[in-house]
Amino acid sequence: MKVEVHKTYDELSKAAADLIASVIKNKPNALICVASGHTPTGTFKFLRDHIDAGLDISKTVFVSLDEWLGIDPSDAGSCISMLRKDFFDHVKARIELFDVLAKDPRKECDRMNKFIDDNGGLDVMLVGIGLNGHIGMNEPGTPFDKYAHVSDLAEETKTSGQKYFTKPTTLSKGITLGLRHFAECRLPILMANGSKKSEIIKKVIDSPITEKIPASIIHRISQALVMLDAEAASRLPQSL
Ligand code: F6R
Repeated sequence: MKVEVHKTYDELSKAAADLIASVIKNKPNALICVASGHTPTGTFKFLRDHIDAGLDISKTVFVSLDEWLGIDPSDAGSCISMLRKDFFDHVKARIELFDVLAKDPRKECDRMNKFIDDNGGLDVMLVGIGLNGHIGMNEPGTPFDKYAHVSDLAEETKTSGQKYFTKPTTLSKGITLGLRHFAECRLPILMANGSKKSEIIKKVIDSPITEKIPASIIHRISQALVMLDAEAASRLPQSL
């Protein structure tokens, strides 16, 4: 695992976008999983600049990391709505999504696992981190060896997730790629910005590997890259 600290959110976002663009240049049919939420919005902005400047994504497939179950995908707070607003509405991209309206969400997980497998595995997985250390909707206690699965949201996520919605919204379950996808991905990137994330980042970096803190899995993944801005890294020793 490597930790990279960039001075500002803009510099962090540009570095992540440059990295993803270089993966796509080397492998046009790359399979790229992206998180929604506030963390990657800057990365999407810079990635769009690459695409506007000629980066060819016609063969690239973008996979969404997760989605709320029980929330209509057209709701502005759904993961896909956020991804569309920040990225997919602005570029012509191939996207593979969880169908949250599927009758059997578990079968939908199987379908997504097979899709990723059939396409040779994930090249990049860009994820944020929850204040409780979650990755995607892999909440504390989720076994590290799970692929896609239906998750019971932690109380903290039900509350913090309200920030995406225009009105109070009942959140209870999600559908998410698993931590095993993250561990097997060729370039797993855990990104965090802002002082609000500094405490959980310190906890994750200091923590032994434990399923109580899902993001602590990074210690087990030699190819993992933790990308931070200075605020998120502010509680870490300078030497990192
Ligand atoms: C979103 C997701 C979540 C977020 C995390 C951080 O698709 O999977 O795990 O990445 O909760 O959210 P933000 O980036 O809004 O701080």
